[in-house]
Amino acid sequence: MPEFEETQLMVAARKARLHAYAPYSNFRVGAAVLTESGRIYPGCNVENASYGLTICAERAAVFRAITEGETRLSALALCLESAGSPCGACRQVIHEFGPGIPILICDPEGNLISETTLDRLLPDAFGPGNLDI
Ligand code: THU
Repeated sequence: MPEFEETQLMVAARKARLHAYAPYSNFRVGAAVLTESGRIYPGCNVENASYGLTICAERAAVFRAITEGETRLSALALCLESAGSPCGACRQVIHEFGPGIPILICDPEGNLISETTLDRLLPDAFGPGNLDI
């Protein structure tokens, strides 16, 4: 993945984090997905007084891309204030549209903290292929 794309993706995740609605956990998260068409879609976590309705930044970003007609992801960046990686639910949702994609984790200043892949985070994933889709 070209370095300028990595940087752009992390900048988008960092900016999205500024809009996180996290009054209950105070844990603000930003994410951004790069699609195969080269566009970037950001998302932030959105909490709710009915706690279970919270949506993570990663799924917000993926669903935003889908809403724009993009179904093939090529990378995802995540911006967190401390070490972390996508939760299990988000890993499964990312797999649907971007099996094996690179995942960049950055801090709130936009520095790359770690890089992994969805294959590593969700080995032997269940997906569309298991349903012959
Ligand atoms: N959260 C995310 O948005 N992404 C993650 O990868 C981890 C957790 C959110 C959900 C909730 O709003 C807050 O962080 C604390 O769990």
